[in-house]
Amino acid sequence: MTTMPKHIAIFASGSGSNAENIIRHINRPQSKGLVKLVISNRSDAGVLQRAKDLGVDSIVVDKDKLNDSDYMLRLLEKHRIEIAVLAGFLLMIPPFLIHRFEGNMVNIHPSLLPKFGGKGMFGRHVHEAVIKSGETESGITIHLVNEEYDRGKILLQVSCPVKPNDTAESLEKRIRELEVQNFPSVVESLL
Ligand code: GAR
Repeated sequence: MTTMPKHIAIFASGSGSNAENIIRHINRPQSKGLVKLVISNRSDAGVLQRAKDLGVDSIVVDKDKLNDSDYMLRLLEKHRIEIAVLAGFLLMIPPFLIHRFEGNMVNIHPSLLPKFGGKGMFGRHVHEAVIKSGETESGITIHLVNEEYDRGKILLQVSCPVKPNDTAESLEKRIRELEVQNFPSVVESLL
């Protein structure tokens, strides 16, 4: 007996390297999951082209629409979405969505939370703050999303050294490698 794959939506605001990596891993024959939809708040986000190239539907949802529960819940029902993956999504997730996906919404953050988390801490800003603080270690955190920003249950943390000559760019490169290696398997563990 074959079971239907669980439908996943990826929320992303940026270049979409994590989104692409997850789609490539998950959208394979016999997989227990299927990335059905990419949701971005930016019409110029690189993730939209990546989704198109990979044959995944995408939609631009601005802040007002994201906060419109009728609109969002209908959109998610239409695509029968059961799991939400935040891969560099920079808008606050409204509480009704957090409840809709309780235990099934996962976020990736490019530091060892709770360090360097919270408002304003995203992408390159995180690495700049880590370097500035003189930390000798950084890494990634993959966690469930709850109403406390960057504070949901941690599913996986992987660390890497911060080297004496690191710049934000070189540290970001090391962290991105960790993201590529680790994010798909955590998403798979939710299926
Ligand atoms: C990733 O490094 C992700 O960890 C980070 O944004 C980047 C998105 O890159 N997320 C955050 O900073 C969340 N606070 P991508 O668009 O190439 O996947």
